[in-house]
Amino acid sequence: MARIAIAYHSGYGHNEVLALSVAQGVRDAGGEAELLKIEGPGQDFDPILEAITASDAVVFGAPTYIGDVSAAFKAFAEATSKIFAVGGWKDRLAAGFTVSHSFSGDKGHTLESLTILAAQHGMNWINLGVPPPAVPAAERGPDTLNRVGSFTGLAAQADNASPEISPPAGDRETARLLGERVARAAQRWARGADAALARAA
Ligand SMILES: Cc1cc2nc3c(=O)[nH]c(=O)nc-3n(C[C@H](O)[C@H](O)[C@H](O)COP(=O)(O)O)c2cc1C
Repeated sequence: MARIAIAYHSGYGHNEVLALSVAQGVRDAGGEAELLKIEGPGQDFDPILEAITASDAVVFGAPTYIGDVSAAFKAFAEATSKIFAVGGWKDRLAAGFTVSHSFSGDKGHTLESLTILAAQHGMNWINLGVPPPAVPAAERGPDTLNRVGSFTGLAAQADNASPEISPPAGDRETARLLGERVARAAQRWARGADAALARAA
């Protein structure tokens, strides 16, 4: 069974809602999801790093604060340098999500930071894989999948409202689909590795 780590920060709960949806998608695809919450910059990140090292794939989640990942997530990203030093995550799979208040809000930049984190570790990035809405903008609503039309990863939008109601259902379902996609990719990746080892034996 593919084990998928979901390493996320959420200052006000909106990213946490999506982390839970990603975990549901992982389980729906037959995988095991491990939620790893980043609490703040001063935390001991070693347990999170170890859990990611023990997983088949990781989904990074960070709020967009001033057009980039939050300071807490950035502190975590810097703490991964000890893994970088030994190539510990090389050839693993990675994906990512972010939430911000505006429809754009420079979320693309946050996703770019997540892809760079993965790339510096030599990880393979899994994009969102959910097409942007094909309906006119006026017909898009809270149930629309990939509402803001992102390709690199999940870009969700939350109002200044309780995480119980925002981000809306369409963003949560898009997060669930991302979890399914990552779990299935991890299963294929492991099967490919097994087959290569068998051929080499
Ligand atoms: C310090 C700070 C900076 C923010 N910067 C942005 C921003 O650049 N763009 C944007 O659209 N929203 C911005 N927001 C809004 C958050 O992205 C939004 O509230 C999001 O839902 C927070 O996610 P969280 O609840 O998981 O922390 C900012 C919020 C805070 C607290």
